[in-house]
Amino acid sequence: MTFSVLPQPRAFRVLSDAPVFRLTYLCNLRALPEAADAEADLTAFLEKVFEMDAPIGSGREYLYLNIDRSLPDPEGYRLTVEKNKVTVTGADESGVFWGVQTLKQLLLQGELELPAMEIDDAPRFAHRAFMLDICRHFFTPDAIKRFLDAMALHKLNVLHLHLSDDQGWRVEIYSRLLLAQIGGFRADPAYGGKPYGGFLSKADVADLVAYAAARHIRIVPEIDMPGHSIAAIAAYPFLSCSGKERSVTSRVGIHRDILCAGKESTYEFVFSVLDEICEMFPSGMIHIGGDEVPLQHWTQCPDCQKRIRDLGLADEKALYEAFMRRVAEHLRQRGQRVFAWHNKELSPSFGDEIVLHHWNRPPQTQAPFIDANWLVYYLDHSHGTLPLKTCYAYEPTENGKTPIGLEACLWTEFVATMEKAGFQVFPRLGAFCETAWSIRENKDYDRFLAKLPAYERLLQTLPMTFAGRRAANPNALTRARMALKEWGNWVKGFLRKT
Ligand code: ACM
Ligand code: ZN
Repeated sequence: MTFSVLPQPRAFRVLSDAPVFRLTYLCNLRALPEAADAEADLTAFLEKVFEMDAPIGSGREYLYLNIDRSLPDPEGYRLTVEKNKVTVTGADESGVFWGVQTLKQLLLQGELELPAMEIDDAPRFAHRAFMLDICRHFFTPDAIKRFLDAMALHKLNVLHLHLSDDQGWRVEIYSRLLLAQIGGFRADPAYGGKPYGGFLSKADVADLVAYAAARHIRIVPEIDMPGHSIAAIAAYPFLSCSGKERSVTSRVGIHRDILCAGKESTYEFVFSVLDEICEMFPSGMIHIGGDEVPLQHWTQCPDCQKRIRDLGLADEKALYEAFMRRVAEHLRQRGQRVFAWHNKELSPSFGDEIVLHHWNRPPQTQAPFIDANWLVYYLDHSHGTLPLKTCYAYEPTENGKTPIGLEACLWTEFVATMEKAGFQVFPRLGAFCETAWSIRENKDYDRFLAKLPAYERLLQTLPMTFAGRRAANPNALTRARMALKEWGNWVKGFLRKT
């Protein structure tokens, strides 16, 4: 029996051929109070996958979940299997939780029997994120929880939730109820023109935040602005330059109607919404979008032009910068770390003020950034345009700059169901986590491929769909066909009327 762990641990030594430990419900499970999350996660896994009752502690085997704060790396852990004894020791609460994720993989592969082994492990990047777009298609709290469960197995620690866009506003805001009530629904031709949508209530958010925290995952909410704001404008038309009424759109792509950066009422609105968002999501991190902002309406808007003059700005591009800085400053005063998408036409270097997610252009400055390279980490790309091997092979430091973290993204313009979402995301998220967590020297594509059967079995425990090995690395003809279909979807999406 061979054992594998995904993402690859820093050091992994199997020390015996025969099993030396067998986990039964008689086992003595001894967890420190600080390891309660890890203990709960392990016992829930044993119950779900092996139908095992919580260990009662009358047998010879011992399983320890400990914390040793003298271990050198944050989130690191050490896992040892000796005769009748398993010990998982975290450097902190997260470390022991990640150690248990490794243990779950091993127990599944060994059907509860383990040989002697030693694992020393710690993450390469501190910020290991997955972004889920619940705007283009809505994903329910239960679906989001399934992604959180999957993220935990991949040792990813940040869920970036894309909560607002042209096609839907997806979170309840008490001070602006119409955002969700009107902005949360669209008449979508793909659904026969019937209202399509949904949103997270405050109770849903509180539940998700707690669910994520128990898995050592922080949620970064994103309210996208000043572009990608049609759903907000549909609810509150005064937010746009023209103030004209309009409906939530089903058309994908970039829309010219954006938030007016001239009127003070826009800033009041944005601040009140963001203040509520900060209360709901306690991660201390927030994303303010900033991507794909066409400036035509600002050019024609008396309010935007007046603000440009009043602030002594050069042009609309400078107004974009002033808008982003003002919103970021409001949030920074409330203790938030602010993120935004890099905007290749408009972004200056925001330095530390706004940490940029680089998606369609590598960074030119030394400012801290997140690498969300769309060529390799946009998992909505078909397996034809982004084969597994390409996703795996990408090395984020190769352009000479080291990000503070990595992010894999699932945009959902053409992903309407969990089945499709799983097919897009897995096994590419496995490839991604082996760059986000494992050290570079430990990346080995052939070894990764050999792990896929065990990985697929792990995903089935959630359950989660995935692309099989052949589907994830299609041949040239299938690649071309998939890429063509992908472009066809975009063209159809662009041409939608509403
Ligand atoms: C993006 O893909 N528009 C960030
Ligand atoms: Zn304006």
